[in-house]
Amino acid sequence: MWFTISPKTWQFTNSSNLQFFPLPTKIKTIPKAYNGDDNSTESTAGKIKRMVLSQEGRTKLNILPDREFYAYPRFVTHVDDRFISSLTNLYRERLRPEFEILDLMSSWVSHLPQEVKYKRVVGHGLNAQELAKNPRLDYFIVKDLNQDQKLEFENCSFDAVLCTVSVQYLQQPEKVFAEVFRGLKPGGVFIVSFSNRLFYEKAISAWRDSTGYGRVQLVVQYFQCVQGFTQPEVIRKLPTEKDGAAPQNQWPLNWIMQLTGLLSSSSDPFYAVVAYRNFKPVHE
Ligand SMILES: C[S@@+](CC[C@H](N)C(=O)[O-])C[C@H]1O[C@@H](n2cnc3c(N)ncnc32)[C@H](O)[C@@H]1O
Repeated sequence: MWFTISPKTWQFTNSSNLQFFPLPTKIKTIPKAYNGDDNSTESTAGKIKRMVLSQEGRTKLNILPDREFYAYPRFVTHVDDRFISSLTNLYRERLRPEFEILDLMSSWVSHLPQEVKYKRVVGHGLNAQELAKNPRLDYFIVKDLNQDQKLEFENCSFDAVLCTVSVQYLQQPEKVFAEVFRGLKPGGVFIVSFSNRLFYEKAISAWRDSTGYGRVQLVVQYFQCVQGFTQPEVIRKLPTEKDGAAPQNQWPLNWIMQLTGLLSSSSDPFYAVVAYRNFKPVHE
């Protein structure tokens, strides 16, 4: 007597009879890696399971093309030192020197730890002058992800993809996250970080109308809507009283003082959502 397991049926065979059983629910076929062929019926990993945003949720107040808004370089840092230090520490923990890294929606600054030399760092963004100044990039591409979500990379090109303080500008995040999945090697990591600062007119309405908690949930859902990402991990570092956050017992006095400029506003909250393609690797 012998048996074979095929994706559709479980055949249990001996020489005298042949019976077909439906695939038991506990036995799952391993999804094949996304192969970029949208007509493939076999592939499930990397597919978009459902859309997260409504049409209204994708809208921006400023409807001019993003390339116009980013036409002039902005040589500024978009978050404070405390945020950057939390992010750099996270990169120090999760990224290894042999990694090939894609910095999505990048600019003239890098938050990678200076002391680590990575195998390759590729930048992507909308302003070539900013990207040309970024000291960490081996090369860069300029592409408007709200016009076209396809990235010109082979499948499984990167060990890590980073997106820093920019996810709020994506109008088709589901497609971008699926495209990141395709570009990641199995076990590769996608780190999406953000704070509460934004170019208000360029952020999507679902982001503008939300709170810190709601924005974290939104990014978690962007990951969850793509088949094959691991359960997203959420990292939060909110300002304490030491960092300038208003003590609970002095509200609303602190709030009034901040409004009148007598007390500096608190530092930037740090949020990161992290997930891996297929599995989280264990490093020795
Ligand atoms: C707030 S900046 C953050 C830059 C950088 N990640 C950092 O940490 O400093 C937002 C970035 O998102 C990029 N961006 C905005 N809209 C975009 C779009 N439609 N397509 C591609 N990149 C976009 C811009 O190039 C800009 O550099």
